[in-house]
Amino acid sequence: MQVAGIRQLGAQVEMIEVGEPRPLAGDEVLLEVRAAGVANWDEFVRTGGWDVGSRPPMALGVEAAGTVLASGQAVSGWAGGDEVMTHPVPLRDQGTWAPRMIAPAGLLARKPSSVSWEAAAAFPVPALTAEQVLRGGLDIHTGEALLIHGASGVTGRLLVALAVLNGAEVIATAGPASQERVLALGARHVFDYHDHDWPERVRAITGGHGVPATANVAPGGAATAIRAVADGGRLATITSDPPSPERGIAVRSVYVRADGSRLRELAELFADGMLEIPVAASYRLADAAQALARATGGHAGGAIALTP
Ligand SMILES: NC(=O)c1ccc[n+]([C@@H]2O[C@H](COP(=O)([O-])OP(=O)(O)OC[C@H]3O[C@@H](n4cnc5c(N)ncnc54)[C@H](OP(=O)(O)O)[C@@H]3O)[C@@H](O)[C@H]2O)c1
Repeated sequence: MQVAGIRQLGAQVEMIEVGEPRPLAGDEVLLEVRAAGVANWDEFVRTGGWDVGSRPPMALGVEAAGTVLASGQAVSGWAGGDEVMTHPVPLRDQGTWAPRMIAPAGLLARKPSSVSWEAAAAFPVPALTAEQVLRGGLDIHTGEALLIHGASGVTGRLLVALAVLNGAEVIATAGPASQERVLALGARHVFDYHDHDWPERVRAITGGHGVPATANVAPGGAATAIRAVADGGRLATITSDPPSPERGIAVRSVYVRADGSRLRELAELFADGMLEIPVAASYRLADAAQALARATGGHAGGAIALTP
């Protein structure tokens, strides 16, 4: 089987030949991948910074949407032809940049019929991350003010939408071109992160106290965002840049965890149109290196997908 992947850690992405998927264990399904997500976390896998459970030579990719081709003997609730999406980490075999792959049935969620294969493929990781920031990382309460720094990206937009659905009063940062979009998601205020004193402006609209909770989604942004946090508040960052705690602020780094039941809940919001994935571009598997370069470039303008 031809997959897009790496022959060794740190190697360039190319089409490589790997074996056909092995026989299924009882709790597994075989998927025909219709689309796979591409994002800068795949670069961490490529370079060895994120161990997703498989060793090269391997297909990269940690999220996908596809059709169930076959199920293991212990699988119930899923049948051939079902359209699903998944973040199947730790990988059981190959990554998702492949025509077919094995996934644990417990990590599947139904793909909404209203969304494209590409949008469904790019949904699991950012949606689970956003949810895990709000519930585990920050434990947001209804009515609480929440600052989201870097709200215009794929994960940032999902965070804004989920936080608003959870009753938070969202204050956001975004580039000038994205501010209207972030306001339309329900943010009360949006500041341009290019203004060096934006944290002080956030403090000003909170009576000088700062916000009780902050989610940092901007690469390298946590040390700036903490300036807007109230004494004794909470900051969660997803960009591996936790600043040293100060003024009694609890700082947490959040890393996405696979979670089938949460993904199924999030899939319902996705199906209802409460959550959205903007797809910026779709590439063929053979052009995966180009897709990854675009995704790691910083301003892709939305999600990137691969189709076999
Ligand atoms: N820890 C985890 O498990 C986890 C999970 C998901 C994502 N992440 C990480 O989270 C980050 C964001 O992910 P994403 O999916 O939202 O990426 P994305 O769609 O590429 O969005 C990045 C956004 O960051 C904004 N940005 C760029 N430079 C900025 C700056 N200096 N200050 C504020 N905002 C800035 C850009 O906004 P404008 O377009 O408005 O300029 C862009 O829309 C990535 O680094 C990703 O690797 C981590």
